[in-house]
Amino acid sequence: MQPKTRQLAKGAAVGLVAVILISLVVVVSVAYSGAYNVAATQDHQPIVRWTLDTTMKNSVSDRAEAVQTPVLRDAMVSAGATRYKAMCQHCHGGPGVKKSEWARGMLPQPPHLPDVVSEWKPNEVFWLAKHGVRMSGMPAFGPTHSDDELWEITAFVMRLPGMTATEYASFDTGNSADDGQ
Ligand code: HEC
Repeated sequence: MQPKTRQLAKGAAVGLVAVILISLVVVVSVAYSGAYNVAATQDHQPIVRWTLDTTMKNSVSDRAEAVQTPVLRDAMVSAGATRYKAMCQHCHGGPGVKKSEWARGMLPQPPHLPDVVSEWKPNEVFWLAKHGVRMSGMPAFGPTHSDDELWEITAFVMRLPGMTATEYASFDTGNSADDGQ
């Protein structure tokens, strides 16, 4: 190596170590000082919110690609509706039903699913229900529910766009042990 190149490489290495050390000091100071506001009443800066939302969307669609969607038969829909009303409705509402009062204080806000679900494919909805979304309040139902049960919920969720309030209300709430209220 030429002496000049060697000197440049050395400078770059020293610079890199300095950047890593400074970043570590910043992270540790933020963690210990309490300067960072964790309040759910204040959203992230728009750039951070965009990064989180975009990361979530792409992470889910990338992982869901490996999931084969079975035929979502009509027979699965009413069983899925009972589970949806017990486990999802308080956060995501339904046609003619608003989310619970406490869910309105969450950040990020659980979206009203009938309005947004057409942006997702069935295998993505299944993946979301099975694995949840870390640090968002969207729980993982995989540890407590079989894939068959989660496909029933998916079959129902895919029917939400365009469903009327009367139709939604006509599905039985059941007396499911899933209802952890
Ligand atoms: C405790 C509240 C809570 C419950 C219960 C809950 N979710 Fe969620 N869900 C969330 C939150 C919060 C998000 C937004 C996550 C994000 O933006 O990172 C979300 C996002 C989603 C999304 C993606 C929607 C979008 O466009 O962002 C789907 C689909 C979903 N949930 C399905 C379900 C299903 C199905 C159930 C029931 C099996 C369920 N959720 C139960 C809180 C909840």
